[in-house]
Amino acid sequence: MQLTTEQLKEKINEYKKKLDVTVVAHFYQRDEVFEVGDITGDSLELAQKTMADDSKFVVFCGVGFMGQSVKVLSPHKRVVMPKVACCAMATMIDGVQFDKSVKALNEAGITNENILPITYINSNAEVKAKVAEMGGMVCTSSNAKKIITTALKEGKKILFVPDRCLGQNIANQMGLKSSVLGDGTNPADADIICFNGFCSVHQLFTVDDIKFYRKKFPGILIAVHPECDPAICAASDFVGSTSQLIRYIKGLPEDQKVAVGTEFNLVNRLRPKNTYVLSSTKPECPTMNETTLQDVYDILKSIDEDEPLNEIQIDEHTQKWAKIALDRMLAL
Ligand code: 13P
Ligand code: SF4
Repeated sequence: MQLTTEQLKEKINEYKKKLDVTVVAHFYQRDEVFEVGDITGDSLELAQKTMADDSKFVVFCGVGFMGQSVKVLSPHKRVVMPKVACCAMATMIDGVQFDKSVKALNEAGITNENILPITYINSNAEVKAKVAEMGGMVCTSSNAKKIITTALKEGKKILFVPDRCLGQNIANQMGLKSSVLGDGTNPADADIICFNGFCSVHQLFTVDDIKFYRKKFPGILIAVHPECDPAICAASDFVGSTSQLIRYIKGLPEDQKVAVGTEFNLVNRLRPKNTYVLSSTKPECPTMNETTLQDVYDILKSIDEDEPLNEIQIDEHTQKWAKIALDRMLAL
């Protein structure tokens, strides 16, 4: 017999009391999954808060690279995922694609000594490890500008992976020249060379959506995530990471209308009134939405039965170097 949402929540809470577990949920999770999270936040907050938590098992409700970051920063913990869900952007680059990108820069006359790679946290542990081995580090959308400012002090070209938009948006904010690998321009002419990856959810927002809302509600503010195309960011009033968007929108006067360009589940629970989703197509992250309450219950049951499902495993070499890439960011 199928359990109802309330029955599932009750059973999940019973397991949480009985087992040495912490349930961790990203802001983009479905509401009912988000509600059973002991720790909630954006990807970096989840990794940091989980480091400070002492339970043996972490039940991670989010996407693979986030669960991996928790495991990398807290290798002694057992991290399991209710669904093995992957961020589409993170899957756009693996170690082979990374090596090919470095080779493309070499072919443009840029030697490895003159390349400093930076990877957005939305990448798998293998890519983070490769970045660290070349002296680079991780950034998030909250600290990308700071990390790039520090990196540029080394006087090298930045290879930014995998998100083209975040790399270009930061370059625009800092008055730097950017290019995209394979766009026909010479990488040697740019300060930041971006891999051509993207988030399909954040590509849904268009300049026409912004024009529509500005016409419908004069005075409305437009707030978007930097994974949106540079044209969208340029036409918006505020560009910020998940946590920055939350702070900005919660700080607005109650009667101030705002249209938000980021994931649906987050926008939907942000503010009771005067908050709109900046797209006629519902911007749900398909893989974030894969995790259901039933999955959370099933994984807790598997821990109780001593046969945990979907446990994250990372080989020793990748673990060591991916941690260096994350630690370099945290040190800043
Ligand atoms: P945060 O790092 O802000 O949690 O977001 C990651 C992400 O996937 C944004 O689309
Ligand atoms: Fe990845 Fe985009 Fe989903 Fe974020 S919203 S997890 S970048 S696919």
